[in-house]
Amino acid sequence: SSLSCSWPSLFFPLSFLLLGLLRAEAGSSQQGPVKKQCDQRLLIRMKTKCVPCSLNLDTQCPAGYTKITNGTGTPDCRYYLETKTHTLSFSGCRHRCVKEFEQPECCQGHWGPDCMACPGGAASPCNGRGRCSQGMAGNGTCTCQKGFGGTACEKCAEDNLFGPDCTSVCGCIHGVCNSGIAGDGSCTCLSGYQGPRCDQPIAECEALQCPAHSRCAASGEDGKQLECTCLPGFHGDGTQCEPINPCSSKVCDPNADCIFLGPNQHKCTCGEGYTGDGEICLPIDPCQAAHGGCPAQSSTCIYDGPGKSHCECKEHYTNFVPGKGCSMMDSCETNNTCHKKAKCSTVAPGQIM
Ligand SMILES: *[C@@H]1O[C@H](CO)[C@@H](O)[C@H](O)[C@H]1NC(C)=O
Ligand SMILES: *[C@@H]1O[C@H](CO)[C@@H](O)[C@H](O)[C@H]1NC(C)=O
Ligand SMILES: *[C@@H]1O[C@H](CO)[C@@H](O)[C@H](O)[C@H]1NC(C)=O
Repeated sequence: SSLSCSWPSLFFPLSFLLLGLLRAEAGSSQQGPVKKQCDQRLLIRMKTKCVPCSLNLDTQCPAGYTKITNGTGTPDCRYYLETKTHTLSFSGCRHRCVKEFEQPECCQGHWGPDCMACPGGAASPCNGRGRCSQGMAGNGTCTCQKGFGGTACEKCAEDNLFGPDCTSVCGCIHGVCNSGIAGDGSCTCLSGYQGPRCDQPIAECEALQCPAHSRCAASGEDGKQLECTCLPGFHGDGTQCEPINPCSSKVCDPNADCIFLGPNQHKCTCGEGYTGDGEICLPIDPCQAAHGGCPAQSSTCIYDGPGKSHCECKEHYTNFVPGKGCSMMDSCETNNTCHKKAKCSTVAPGQIM
């Protein structure tokens, strides 16, 4: 608002002393089971101007501040009087004042003006394997620890890594590795190879002539018997192998489309209104960036669901025009509290003169 209050000069502090900012978690402005916004309660301290102690009894703190000193205040300062030739200094008194104010802030694990949950969820942002750019000024992206990748650090950074720390490297030569965070690095050999790293050719396989999409592999208790089994990404009895569609099991985020690219190959793409790597998809809140296109002075952005938002006029504003915002209400027409003989003019939102 443009209301300005002038204070008698005595009450005006020479310098607003920001003595300390006491940080404490204030009550939430959000009700219900998921608390997203945790405003910070800040305590601003200041001292009034130094004046002769005898004149300090009635000194008030500026509007909104509470006086915490009694009587004539604390005699711990000096005030100065200018004469033509000298500046004289005298010991004086001042009062101490405090003001509480709540600064909007997101709870742990939330980000942006609307305090959306970080990838991986607010309880374990980035699945505990990275750092979320959180807070009101954050952008909600995960910076994953070394070795991890994905929108929520939900997978290994490279396809050939495995283990809970993604620090082990797959060693399959002619085989498919059981890789990833849950993988154990074991190899499924391609046709005609055996051994832990699938690097030993099985010469006798030639004679077996396994059908398409199957492979010749050693089996039996002694590992000497040979048989045809389906290739990784195919299923069947070994004589008839059909490609497995990974999309038929839940490999993508519920809000993603799964595209079958071939045996053992698929692509997850987040649906409209969502963003992420497809295995993790997060709803897009347009209000989280640049106020969702709502001119901030006169309007606010309201989130309506994934990818959707609209602008609403702030108090004392009306008639939203895209790109322009809302226009100030004419308080003289809607709320003329002036005397009927006085001239009314709107000077600021909701204020008339
Ligand atoms: C100010 O006065 C109140 C009550 O009169 C008293 O409780 C408080 O301790 C006093 N504070 C100081 C700093 O003297
Ligand atoms: C998000 O913020 C992080 C750290 O604050 C920064 O490194 C990163 O580049 C930002 N990403 C985007 C997409 O703005
Ligand atoms: C009308 O103006 C008065 C005094 O400025 C104010 O207290 C009141 O809230 C206003 N009413 C509306 C509906 O704006």
